[in-house]
Amino acid sequence: MDLFQYRDGQLFCEDVSLDALAGEVGTPTYVYSRQTFETHYDKIARAFEAVDPLICYSIKSCGNVHLIKLLADRGAGMDVVSGGEIHRAKLGGADMSKIVYAGVGKTDEEIRLGLDEGIGWFNIESEAEFENIASIARSMGKTTHGALRVNPDVADPNTHAKTTTGKKETKFGVDIDRARQFFAHYGKDEHCRLTGIHLHIGSPIYSAEPYVLAIRKALELIDELRGQGYTIDTLDIGGGYAADYETGKSPDYAQYAADIVPLVAGKDLKIILEPGRTIAGNAGILLTRVLYVKLGGRKKFVIVDTGMHQLIRPAMYDAFHFMWPTNVAPDHLPDKRIAEMPNPGLDLVDVVGPICETGDILAKARKLPPVARGDLLAIHTAGAYGMCMASNYNAMPRPAEVLIEGDQWRLIRRRETYDDLTAAEVL
Ligand SMILES: Cc1ncc(COP(=O)(O)O)c(C=O)c1O
Repeated sequence: MDLFQYRDGQLFCEDVSLDALAGEVGTPTYVYSRQTFETHYDKIARAFEAVDPLICYSIKSCGNVHLIKLLADRGAGMDVVSGGEIHRAKLGGADMSKIVYAGVGKTDEEIRLGLDEGIGWFNIESEAEFENIASIARSMGKTTHGALRVNPDVADPNTHAKTTTGKKETKFGVDIDRARQFFAHYGKDEHCRLTGIHLHIGSPIYSAEPYVLAIRKALELIDELRGQGYTIDTLDIGGGYAADYETGKSPDYAQYAADIVPLVAGKDLKIILEPGRTIAGNAGILLTRVLYVKLGGRKKFVIVDTGMHQLIRPAMYDAFHFMWPTNVAPDHLPDKRIAEMPNPGLDLVDVVGPICETGDILAKARKLPPVARGDLLAIHTAGAYGMCMASNYNAMPRPAEVLIEGDQWRLIRRRETYDDLTAAEVL
């Protein structure tokens, strides 16, 4: 579900015309629908409510402080992977005791920050990291909780190799055999209390099945560990729930929950979820303007004012993002968002950015309504892993971010300037 819909041939976000918005804030601009963002959170919370989960929004997917605040106000926890994300969570008003902190390379400074802020759980990725966290906690006279990230050796065949994390040979977590030894060594530590198991098998995961396989393995391990006298009170099942990049491709939350909830209900476990993409993905678009239309051999290129530096997913993961002009004739209204659009009179084009890289492609061999210089395109499902992965490559200022609330909009991040590009340089 999202609230980017056409009215009389013009694309609106909630009740704001995107053409009018572009006239005021310019392009490229990330535009988020507040209602879509919040509705996704509410729906996932409702789908899993039978197990009263703690839903920790994955800040890495889209970390603007204003968006964090919307979910913190709804009682969400946060999933972070760095000191910088702890900082963002704090600015967004998140409850620090509801923070889970993952990542294989936590520095001493970041660990101290997490301990000082009293975050809920460190998700532990290795023996060496555990020893470091426990030793820093001891030296600070603090106690914290750890959830061991277990690698269940499960993957969704539809997940891109670069975003699969649950296989044995990834850098994340430890395998089940090592998990047993882990508890034998560290399971009674007083300063980092290992009371949880953490899973995150990759992203996006297009069905409940990989979760079910992973959770079954985790539950067996938990039973075994409890049998040995360890207190395990938390199971964090991670993120990875899909966003609807193509209409109807991702399951709805009830479908995930129908298979997952019965497995974990009644096990005396605090259940944590770490969704990011599924909340933010379809809540955001990247609004871009056509600069030029150019022929190259038999190819037609649509050159726009954004590219891989501002939305890297197509270049990095071969990701599909539906895009369409914001102003269309009736026979070009998109009934669905799919790769092969059936409308008549479409042009076959490559949509490319201004970056000096041949790989700066946003859409390859895509059928689009004919466009001309000055037209606006909306690149959909760009809310997650869009702005947060944007860079200044080629010395391009990063886009503005706008939050739409009904018929109102507010700038939640101003467009960068040339001065911003050099602000940290010691001139
Ligand atoms: C540990 C962990 N949790 C949660 C997420 C969020 O994944 P998604 O945005 O697909 O829900 C990620 C993504 O990389 C992750 O590494």
